[in-house]
Amino acid sequence: MKNTILTGVRVNGELTLGNFLGAIFPIVQLAAKHADEYNVNIFVPDLHTIIAEVDGKLHENTMKSIKYYMATGLDTKHPNIHVYRQSYIPAHSELTWILDCFATMGETSRMIQYKEKSDGGKESANVGIFNYPILMAADILLYSAKYVPVGEDQFQHLELTRDIALRMNKKFGEIFVPPAPSREQVEFMSLDEGLRIRDLVHPEKKMSKSSRNENAKIMLSDRPEAAAKKIMSATTDSVGKIQFDMFNQAGISNLLQILSLLKREPLQDVIARWTGESSYGDLKQEVAVALKHFLQDFQEKVAEISDKTVLEVLEEGEARMRKVADAKLLEVQKAVGIRR
Ligand code: TRP
Repeated sequence: MKNTILTGVRVNGELTLGNFLGAIFPIVQLAAKHADEYNVNIFVPDLHTIIAEVDGKLHENTMKSIKYYMATGLDTKHPNIHVYRQSYIPAHSELTWILDCFATMGETSRMIQYKEKSDGGKESANVGIFNYPILMAADILLYSAKYVPVGEDQFQHLELTRDIALRMNKKFGEIFVPPAPSREQVEFMSLDEGLRIRDLVHPEKKMSKSSRNENAKIMLSDRPEAAAKKIMSATTDSVGKIQFDMFNQAGISNLLQILSLLKREPLQDVIARWTGESSYGDLKQEVAVALKHFLQDFQEKVAEISDKTVLEVLEEGEARMRKVADAKLLEVQKAVGIRR
């Protein structure tokens, strides 16, 4: 049996270049690298999304996100790559309930994200916020996913998933494949923790779409010319020499990082090319041109993908994955005694 790599795609409207380079791009690369030996499940956790925003845009945002993956080169025709929406596979909700009965109030209340999103456990917080990590556990365990590439903020949920799986395996025999521990996940993904694209105006911060300063962030929908201008006006420093040094020269280091990702040139090579140079303007110019070309090309590709194409991809993935999920659900239902 092939192992599975699985990840959930947050869909919430517009994305920054930072979201793209830090999340979409590495997942597409990972899929390309491993799809021949692994199942690669990329799904939209739409049930998770509604804990926060019910703004009527979920469908539209889903279409857009999947187009972003496809425009980045995700091979949706590969037989081992599965793209689907969580809510179209009811087993996610059903398994969540069963897992709920094997997780404790103590462990779920300890989740940092729960505490943050419920404002320290406020009574007015919705129960979905509390139950969120259990639904996430169901997402993972239904497909026996060993590797789950997520950001550090999700490691605690991953560990909880592992604990529940091991606990239930102990009670019922090997019904679940527990996801690998966080440290192994990091090794497998070789996820670069430093890969955080910075704010262009305040490079000591991460680039964030909630930033109110338009010049601080590049959105994937920015006009290419306008985006290039933002690079030209990015904050640097007064050192006067180009070096990769995130502490003392965060702005310059950020530009080198962006350049490497956009040109798909190893960071070490980019650093070697630029270290010791003194013209910040020349570096900005190269980044600005690379960004302009990237955005032109990307936006063109996105525009060429129709909603119909995306729906075909999703529906096919959902039909295939429903079988996998239903089979696992039945196994669990039998183990706990609600099916014979
Ligand atoms: N909670 C994840 C996030 O915020 C999204 C997600 C939901 C997920 N279910 C998942 C990620 C299962 C990996 C596996 O990014």
